Amino acid sequence: MKAVIPAAGLGTRFLPMTKNSPKEMLPIIDKPAIQYVVEEAVNSGINDIVIVTGRGKEVIENHFDIAYELEKILEERNDKEKLEEVRKISEIAEIFYVRQKMPLGLGHAIYVAKKHIDNETFAVLLGDDIIVAEEPCTKQIMKIYEKYNASIIAVQEVERKDVTKYGIIECEELDDGVYKIKNLVEKPSMHEAPSNLAVMGRYILTPSIFECIEKTKPGKNNEIQLTDALNLLLKKEDIYAYKFKGKRYDLGDKFDWLRINIELALQREEFKQKLMELIRKIASEE
Ligand code: UTP
Repeated sequence: MKAVIPAAGLGTRFLPMTKNSPKEMLPIIDKPAIQYVVEEAVNSGINDIVIVTGRGKEVIENHFDIAYELEKILEERNDKEKLEEVRKISEIAEIFYVRQKMPLGLGHAIYVAKKHIDNETFAVLLGDDIIVAEEPCTKQIMKIYEKYNASIIAVQEVERKDVTKYGIIECEELDDGVYKIKNLVEKPSMHEAPSNLAVMGRYILTPSIFECIEKTKPGKNNEIQLTDALNLLLKKEDIYAYKFKGKRYDLGDKFDWLRINIELALQREEFKQKLMELIRKIASEE
């Protein structure tokens, strides 16, 4: 299976940082966000990845390219560990880039990858969503795809007050954590929300999605919304949702970025103790 990683959005919620740097390159401790996403695809068994980029996103391509000068210097210094780490990034997978000339929405971003995907079912991983899980989230939904042979959307329960920030599904539960979708609503108000199951940035999509995107008119913010295209797809094919196991962070959101840095740092031996001491000290001064 191939994967599409849309990374061409403007990232306006993370301004001013994103004025001239992609949010997908925000560091999570010492690694850019999009590297976690690419690693999730690779750890799910996907080796052919299309990243959708746009203006100002060239640093993403450079990150996954060979850094010849850096490698030469590390070689001269005989710094084998760093050299290996840097090399590994450029060898991680076969990565292709397509450009979305205008950020016309997530649906449109996926559409520009159509030629590369051909007529196959593919995975979508949003470039600014990181999912920390024992089994990669994409792998989890690929397994559900194998069983149902239809499009699958990764979902998680959110607090009722937060439904306004997400795409929410109306559904019926079929099996433990597997739902048949009846309808999708983008950012509903609390009383309009048909459930508290929110779409979380990982999808398996059949190629019929492309003709649905073609028929999708610009919706909220004048963007071609994936949610609208999925509702068209629902008229032709079944779509299922899977409540995956793992923790999701939306890097478009500044607080989520702070949270993932702290939570992942607490899992690293080199920072754990120092960070705990700092947190305790700050809390005692409050
Ligand atoms: P978001 O809606 O979170 O990204 O899209 P955004 O539009 O960049 O964010 P804000 O709201 O302005 O802060 C989810 C993913 O889809 C990509 C984004 O790069 C992000 O990884 N995307 C979004 C595109 O590739 N193209 C678009 O036109 C819109």
